[in-house]
Amino acid sequence: MTDATRDPIAELLRKGRLAQDQSEEDVDWSRRPRRPIWMSSNAAIWAVSQLRHGELRTAAMCRAVAPSVDGRTAAEFLDTQALDEMRHSRLYMRYLEKLNAASVKPPAGALDRAYEEALGWRGAPEAILLAYSVILEGEALRIQRSAETWLPCPVFRDLSAIVARDEARHVAFGKHYLRTRLPVLAQSERLRMYVWARDLWFDAARGVTNEITPPLLRASGLGAERWLATKWRERMADLQAAGLFTAEERPMFEAA
Ligand SMILES: [Fe+2]
Ligand SMILES: [Fe+2]
Repeated sequence: MTDATRDPIAELLRKGRLAQDQSEEDVDWSRRPRRPIWMSSNAAIWAVSQLRHGELRTAAMCRAVAPSVDGRTAAEFLDTQALDEMRHSRLYMRYLEKLNAASVKPPAGALDRAYEEALGWRGAPEAILLAYSVILEGEALRIQRSAETWLPCPVFRDLSAIVARDEARHVAFGKHYLRTRLPVLAQSERLRMYVWARDLWFDAARGVTNEITPPLLRASGLGAERWLATKWRERMADLQAAGLFTAEERPMFEAA
């Protein structure tokens, strides 16, 4: 790794260490949660339960991948990330207790499959960071940023803002790290990784849309599959903008 690429990761590690001063008590928990009219109480508990399970899974992935990443700084960053994710899981649990602790939902099948798939991946560890740090955490970040529309609750909004700050750092780490590591891999290996990560995304996204119909899907007038295909194209554009593959490679990844 060159100095120029090591610096952004060292800076993210510095911020990651500072973030450990945060506490669950930074949120004012005395307020009552508010649920959007379009969402049943069951669906809200399901969605927040999945966010919590996602945090626990991501913490476990960070610990599993840290020993095999390139460079000590990257490994140390993943250690701070695992601590962040555990803190987030506690925030969501606290919120679930306010909604109705007795009805916390188990992890969705797609979430368990994504986790098992990632643990079972045989190949470069970059694939796991692509799937988790960039694609799935990117999704979590979008949910956080749109929380005001889908869960207009002052308590959730506050905890979302805290979580989103950390998630933005995790996604930035994934992109910086992969931008230096991916070009080292053979194109065939990268193609295999992208196809695998794309399938994980579709599986997880279908799992969510089967359970709760997002307002944007409803408003689009498209069927779930066509809507998801347009969403995936937006994700591809993001990955390309982050320098994770070139314009010439894109049609190949899309067609795969
Ligand atoms: Fe998180
Ligand atoms: Fe994260």
